[in-house]
Amino acid sequence: MVIMDKFIVRGGRALNGEISISGAKNVALKVMIASLLTDEELILHNIPQLRDVRFMLEVLKFLGVSSKQVGSTVILKNAHRQMSQIPLDVASSLRTSSMVLGPLLARYHTAVVPNPGGCRLGARPIDRHIDGLIGMGAQISYNSEDGYFYGNSDGLHGVDFTFVKNTHTGTETLLLAAVLARGTTILRNAAEEIEIDDLILLLNKMGGKICRKNNRVIEIEGVPKLHGAEFTVMSDRNEEVTFAIASALTNGSVIVKKSNRESLEPFLSTFKKCGGGAEEIDGTTTRYYKESALIATDVITLPHPGFMTDWQAPWAAFLTQASGVSTIHETIFESRFSYVHQLRKMGAQIDFYQPLVENPEAFYNFNWQDHQGKEQAIRIVGPTKLHNAVLHIDDLRAGATLVLAALAAEGESVITGIEQIDRGYEHIEVRLSKLGADIIRKGEELL
Ligand code: EPU
Repeated sequence: MVIMDKFIVRGGRALNGEISISGAKNVALKVMIASLLTDEELILHNIPQLRDVRFMLEVLKFLGVSSKQVGSTVILKNAHRQMSQIPLDVASSLRTSSMVLGPLLARYHTAVVPNPGGCRLGARPIDRHIDGLIGMGAQISYNSEDGYFYGNSDGLHGVDFTFVKNTHTGTETLLLAAVLARGTTILRNAAEEIEIDDLILLLNKMGGKICRKNNRVIEIEGVPKLHGAEFTVMSDRNEEVTFAIASALTNGSVIVKKSNRESLEPFLSTFKKCGGGAEEIDGTTTRYYKESALIATDVITLPHPGFMTDWQAPWAAFLTQASGVSTIHETIFESRFSYVHQLRKMGAQIDFYQPLVENPEAFYNFNWQDHQGKEQAIRIVGPTKLHNAVLHIDDLRAGATLVLAALAAEGESVITGIEQIDRGYEHIEVRLSKLGADIIRKGEELL
């Protein structure tokens, strides 16, 4: 018998009060991987308590890294056992596990790593990561029979590498490799997401020589050795966006501490245009609320500094309450609308369409040939009164969306698949309850 948790949400309550934003998942996972680059201790603060963090600790354990956890501080120490293979079952739950390829090839010259798991969001290949590592002198082959990448090298060397398209974790994988490679690496068309700059901060604290030359060019002068460091992970901007939307959607008012407003500009301008309110209380405190009746808005997701793909799903829940016809055009992933069918069950009026795009291969961030005829945009007609439903979550951000919708809906909703939310939101039901939400976690026995 398996016990799976679900949420029971009784909607219709305004969220009010104060909340503190957790450390960024998409930084925490990468700075933890940096423990493979040194034999000295890494002391990492503000690490969120998430399923993905637990999975990463498992991955690192297999590679010889021991960990101690005290609250949100994690201390990692690489025993330098030179383990270079991760079991399939450990890695399959976490997409970022493939990022250990860089450190393993740079330090141990060999890596056997499974094809990444995690949120599927379409084909999600790592060809751009692999091309970069090959450019640095690695030989990498993929065995489709066992699902593993097999890599080896005589030690990585610097490279002048241009990414064909933006890739956030691809840029980070190459940083984690180039920092210990012989010579200088120049990454062109490198991604600009601010989480990457937090990783660069840590690597430089460890003795790395990395400099973002201009927005999309990063220069890395390889060093022979890195040492330990102490580092605090930045706040999670995806979590802040989720709470901002929750406040306005429920007609509440929430004060967010450890707010990272500067990184939210593309969100805040759209949020305010739509009727949301954001009051700056001090440098790191922001109050979110609804300023006026919500009006329809159009967004296109883009790499940083555009409107992030991670925000479009919770944004869709918000738009169900905006009057008029809103649109969301997703350009980063080819399959990130799993929540649409679920929102429809609650009464939302949403339909898919394909906007006219002149050169889709160049326009979309994913490899267009992987696209399986899915439509890349949705139209939302609002406002619609949402009602309760039995909902299922397919991926992390879709999970946040369904919780938001259930908070705004009339009646009691049941949400299954919540392990997806636990991957990226720390104790979300506990924190929402403190703001006045009626949400409980319940174990469900499955035969
Ligand atoms: N892509 C390829 N080949 C590659 C790399 C990427 O085809 O080698 C495609 C992807 O399939 C996708 C697009 O290019 O369609 C962009 O992918 P990118 O590599 O930029 O995304 P990612 O690194 O896989 C990270 C975050 C995502 C976030 C995106 C965009 C982590 C662990 N994940 O993914 O976060 O949405 O960047 O900023 O940092 C989440 O937290 O829920 C999440 C999915």
